[in-house]
Amino acid sequence: MKKVVLAYSGGLDTSVAVKWLKNKGYKVIAYMSDVGQGGNFKAIKDRALTAGASKVIIEDLKEEFVGDFIYPTLKANATYESKYFLATALSRPLIAKGLVNAAKKEGAEFVAHGCTGKGNDQVRFEVSCSIMAPKLKTIAPVREWEFGSREEEIKYAKANKIPIDVTKKSPYSIDKNLWGVSIECGALEDPWVEPPESAYQLTRGKSTVRKKPRYVDIHFDSGVPIEIDGAYMEPVELIQELNELGAGFGIGRSDMVENRLVGIKSREVYEAPAATILIEAHKALEALTLDRETAHFKETIALKYAELIYYGLWYTPLKTALDRFIDETQKSVTGTVRIKVQPSSCAVVGRESKFSLYKESLATYTDKDKFNQKLAKGFIEIWGMPYKR
Ligand code: ARG
Repeated sequence: MKKVVLAYSGGLDTSVAVKWLKNKGYKVIAYMSDVGQGGNFKAIKDRALTAGASKVIIEDLKEEFVGDFIYPTLKANATYESKYFLATALSRPLIAKGLVNAAKKEGAEFVAHGCTGKGNDQVRFEVSCSIMAPKLKTIAPVREWEFGSREEEIKYAKANKIPIDVTKKSPYSIDKNLWGVSIECGALEDPWVEPPESAYQLTRGKSTVRKKPRYVDIHFDSGVPIEIDGAYMEPVELIQELNELGAGFGIGRSDMVENRLVGIKSREVYEAPAATILIEAHKALEALTLDRETAHFKETIALKYAELIYYGLWYTPLKTALDRFIDETQKSVTGTVRIKVQPSSCAVVGRESKFSLYKESLATYTDKDKFNQKLAKGFIEIWGMPYKR
């Protein structure tokens, strides 16, 4: 019997996909990874089995997600089109790695996913899998099957006794992990319509946010956050803590129209409290510790890095090379940033580092000034020389 390992989420599409693949003659192994999306894994496992999976594999990938995916992205300060912290995009290559490993272990020659043919995620899964395991074949049921609508899928699910909680169905398509939440569909499909409060999954809205500002000190070591308010925290715990804190203040929401890889524009709403706070803090520390040329050049790298993530090109030579460059720049990005967390925003209010390039004796306008202003005259003359007529 042909074996397929399916990336299973527990939602309607992947539950129907289990049955659909089974009916096509495959032995289906459901693969689930915990990347911080939350949810009842036991219930999801049971659903996969009831839908016809022969086995369910659940793997906790949170630590790997933070260490090998989130932190490199943080070090790069990567955001796509300035507003998307790439949570969904970043999880795909990791889940693909889990799928490939599971397929190898189970002796499966196929992997499958529940992505649509209009999105970026199919590209990310398939390109990642093909780089890691060129011989593995991919099946994308949602791209192939006969159902033209969600209603038809629900009908199929009912007819096949697949346990789907249609009553709880939200009008939105939601993808969640440690680095953030992506929300689309429903009322959001009209870019003129303000996102209803109910679209947000994590962050509090204006009327319920915490009001009293809080200060948090985040300590970084070589570009990576390791302490909050002086206490060491495990990476996963640190991100969870900042998500919780930021969500309470309604921090990290964004509403954008973005350019998808497959050529269309889509309206998306995102929530990324920890990512917002951490990138803000990380940039502030870099501003203190990187020399001007490195800092400016690194900004161009951030754009490229974000594109590589968004375009599904994580496992590529350029990404590896950029990591080397970024890691080199992070050697001096050690120090502490003080963030003021307030309703709907966070602000950097203090920074310090033993590698600080800020020299008060040069910057000050008091009598402590050591800057030799007379030197400026000659500098300006030479600087402007090429443009003199
Ligand atoms: N547009 C985002 C991306 O391509 C998010 C896609 C997943 N969103 C969702 N609601 N299922 O990375």
